[in-house]
Amino acid sequence: MYLGLDLGTSGVKAMLIDGGQRIVGSASAALDVSRPHPGWSEQNPADWSRAAEGAINGLKQAHPQALAAVRGIGLSGQMHGATLLDENDAVLRPCILWNDTRSYRQAAELDGDPQFRALTGNIVFPGFTAPKLAWVRENEPEIFARVRWVLLPKDYLRLWLTGEYMSEMSDSAGTAWLDTGKREWSECLLAATNLEERQMPALVEGTESAGMLRPELANRWGMSPGVVIAGGAGDNAASACGMGTVGEGQAFVSLGTSGVLFAANASYLPNPESAVHAFCHALPNTWHQMGVILSATDALNWHSGITGKSAAELTGELGDTLKAPGSVSFLPYLSGERTPHNDAAIRGAFAGLGHESSRAALTQAVLEGVSFAIRDSLEALRAAGTTLDRVTAIGGGSRSRYWLRSIATALDLPVDLPADGDFGAAFGAARLGLIAATGADPVATCSAPATAETIAPDASLVGAYEDAYQRYRRLYPAIKEATI
Ligand code: XUL
Repeated sequence: MYLGLDLGTSGVKAMLIDGGQRIVGSASAALDVSRPHPGWSEQNPADWSRAAEGAINGLKQAHPQALAAVRGIGLSGQMHGATLLDENDAVLRPCILWNDTRSYRQAAELDGDPQFRALTGNIVFPGFTAPKLAWVRENEPEIFARVRWVLLPKDYLRLWLTGEYMSEMSDSAGTAWLDTGKREWSECLLAATNLEERQMPALVEGTESAGMLRPELANRWGMSPGVVIAGGAGDNAASACGMGTVGEGQAFVSLGTSGVLFAANASYLPNPESAVHAFCHALPNTWHQMGVILSATDALNWHSGITGKSAAELTGELGDTLKAPGSVSFLPYLSGERTPHNDAAIRGAFAGLGHESSRAALTQAVLEGVSFAIRDSLEALRAAGTTLDRVTAIGGGSRSRYWLRSIATALDLPVDLPADGDFGAAFGAARLGLIAATGADPVATCSAPATAETIAPDASLVGAYEDAYQRYRRLYPAIKEATI
């Protein structure tokens, strides 16, 4: 048996698979995000280990024997978070999360230093880890002075599980301190933020072993000694392992809290000018590109909070038949945007509201706005040399047929839905646990699930969607002009 643990933004998910990769069971525990100031987004690391323990206890209740038979564990997690520990491993402040944009000024400063783009292959986005440390140094110098370790969220869970300070390439590529082509920490980038390599975890590939489960925890869960913890992956690379998105030309669109268009690459293909992320994949010698939008289901959940209707009720009101975009447009920039604008200050907008604009019209505009934001990512990937002829959809938002049709039509690409099953980040992490524990071949293990159904673009609406996309493109500069 193998266990995948995915530390998401809204919860921790634990999944058990057997040696034939069949899912035995999964359990989750919820997490809250704290937003003490506009643009801030934080969590307490203690809540992560509590939630991970809660999810594993859920598995223990439902599948005690299977859990006891676990030989390998893989970790996946929300990327970029700055988890700061002192010399006694005490957490120095709440973790500053991936969608926190407070360090936009520090990010712009670091981005102005040409060695960052040259070595990392990426813009220094405010959500990345390095500018967060620069913010802490300026605003909380007494905390910065005590930083002994800088860990990414899932690597904090690893410390709890194993007692080791270790990370892997895919998540570390999102710090702005990794030489992404060479797959090693860059001393000079660390020095540019007044840090040293000794404050960073040791690096392995995601498929390699990165520590053993502590005997105390193995006992608690009924496991035998010698459980291997794989390097694992950032949540997007972990999802790619679950979806079999590991070879050139393969791609997925993920509709989670954030929205991601992810393409696997056999070589390192950076193009920071188009605001594309170029990161290491979890598999050795493999890289990937992705466009990231900060609010995907987060935009629908915001609309749900405002209207007092659940996301499922809201999308249900639209029915399954795709409609032409109406007069209402929506920009989903609730916490700024990464691809394609790299703009932490921009905020979302509804445009074109009339007396006739119903709740359903607003929901339709929200779904279309996210679809157009994903289309922006497709254009950014194209500019970075990637050609896609289809994408697979994953994430909570892919439960809405309407949204899938809208995305297929906005991208003018067929969208594949995997056969029944759960092929997300927890599954990918479990696969990495299996590989690290058994030495199985990474590419053969990370195979693609069968396609249950393909959602084709609606040919009768592709033109109307293209017109609406062009209106959407014109809104950003106009709204930017009018933003405080
Ligand atoms: C990727 C990113 C998000 C988080 C979500 O760069 O910031 O997709 O990984 O958990």
